[in-house]
Amino acid sequence: MDTSDRLNHLMKLRAEASLGGGQERIDKQHAKGAMTARERINMLLDPGSFEEFDMFKTHRCRDFGMDKQVFPGDGVVTGYGTVNGKIVYVFAQDFTVLGGSLSETFAEKICKIMDLAMKNGAPVVGLNDSGGARIQEGIESLAGYTDIFLRNVMASGVVPQISAIFGPCAGGAVYSPALTDFVTMVQGQSYMFLTGPKVVKSVTHEDVTVEELGGAAMHASRSGVSDFAAPSEIEAIEYIKQLLSFMPQNNMESPPMISTNDLPERIAPPLNDIIPDNPNAAYDMKDVILQTVDNGEFVEVKADFAPNIIVGFARYNGMSVGVVANQPAHLSGVLDIDSSVKGARFVRFCDCFNIPIVTFVDVPGFLPGTVQEYGGVIRNGAKILYAFAEATIPKVTVITRKAYGGAYCVMSSKHLRGDINYAWPTAEIAVMGAKGAVGVLYGRQARAEEDPAKYLAEKEKDYQDTVANPYVAAQRGYIDDIIEPANTRLRIIKALKVLENKRDTNPMKKHGNIPL
Ligand code: HXC
Repeated sequence: MDTSDRLNHLMKLRAEASLGGGQERIDKQHAKGAMTARERINMLLDPGSFEEFDMFKTHRCRDFGMDKQVFPGDGVVTGYGTVNGKIVYVFAQDFTVLGGSLSETFAEKICKIMDLAMKNGAPVVGLNDSGGARIQEGIESLAGYTDIFLRNVMASGVVPQISAIFGPCAGGAVYSPALTDFVTMVQGQSYMFLTGPKVVKSVTHEDVTVEELGGAAMHASRSGVSDFAAPSEIEAIEYIKQLLSFMPQNNMESPPMISTNDLPERIAPPLNDIIPDNPNAAYDMKDVILQTVDNGEFVEVKADFAPNIIVGFARYNGMSVGVVANQPAHLSGVLDIDSSVKGARFVRFCDCFNIPIVTFVDVPGFLPGTVQEYGGVIRNGAKILYAFAEATIPKVTVITRKAYGGAYCVMSSKHLRGDINYAWPTAEIAVMGAKGAVGVLYGRQARAEEDPAKYLAEKEKDYQDTVANPYVAAQRGYIDDIIEPANTRLRIIKALKVLENKRDTNPMKKHGNIPL
């Protein structure tokens, strides 16, 4: 063979490998409305930036007729490329090859790019679409999964890891995405569960569809396993790109700065009137976020899960921040099990990757009741406290209205090393709400009064004026300043700027013991 024959031979092999399980199976994938692994990679990465590894790697299994089912690349496309100019390592499971099932060699390919990502400090994006362990291989496949799990854990907090689920993801296979920082699913197309509907039926006698058991809508709203339920694969990939734009490449870097045309001193006059006169009336905390961040751009994470707390990414004067905010428009913004866990995990992600946190507080307390207590609201509520307390990134807090009781303490208060804590003049910071406090303090006296309701109402007003305002906290220095709501953007930007070089540490330890 001369050189040109050799080159032609290489091109032929590459063309064959690019077809994965063959044109017929590619057509089947398209008929389902799904993209192929390579199409997904091309959609994610900057054009022409993909460098593929192990295109010719094949499995070593010879049982069950597998010697006749050998596909170059073995069902997963791996390599690296750039997203908006920054290196990202990527793997995409190819459903056209043996249903994207995971073999020993398939796992080796994924482990190779994960090791490179760790060594070189760059994010890993995994695009999942797989029938699970390759049944013909058995234990080798299980070993392969576990090798990946180990790397997921080792990479956690070192490089960002993002997963998209584009098809099936079942059995133990779910644990690799679950270990990553963010998961996005596609509505009506992807599902994740430990055991499918048939096994569920035989064990618990429940009749449940695939969508009900593990669809995107369920995981994005009920289980919290997925951060996003995208209407299409394209939108899921767009979400991944947006997330990456806020993150540094690894835990040793600062998050990216971008230039913005939104002036830091832009005032937001509607914020001066956003708090309703009635302290029990709702308003939408998202308006506060949108009116203060650059160009009103906010990428919300887990929007449909525990909406009584809002978490997501935004920028202030080009600086990446994580926003955590109670949402008075849902369950009065109360903290409960799910919202505590949601908030805690997000805070810990930001802390891992040096992303400052801006916290907006309007919280009446923790949700009372047997459901919460039996579910362990003590253990779970402690998670958000733990997360804010251990976080050493810059922490800026704005109390817009209520900050009551334990919920005041846990929401990035001064006492948990909040760096700069502001309150609006409408803030009510106290051990409990006026009604509850007055009932405890004056209940006996009220019963002796001619008009107990009038007596209690007067006492309530008295309590409100004396205690439930920002001034008592400001007198103690627990609040650094009481600010005009319309000026919140500028005050946050100045606070973030002055905290830019913040250095804080925790005591040396192997790791803490967050109440899981
Ligand atoms: C080998 C597999 C496979 C698997 C699918 N295929 N899953 N090959 N191992 N796990 C092959 C099929 O034989 C078929 O090959 C092709 O992929 C497409 O599969 P279909 O069944 O035709 O597709 P579809 O109807 O869309 O159904 C998809 C599916 C189904 C729901 C995923 O294939 C299925 O139930 N597969 C088995 C799932 C499973 O039980 N996996 C093991 C779970 S245990 P041809 O040649 O016809 O194209 C597990 C443990 C992990 O994963 C533990 C980790 C710690």
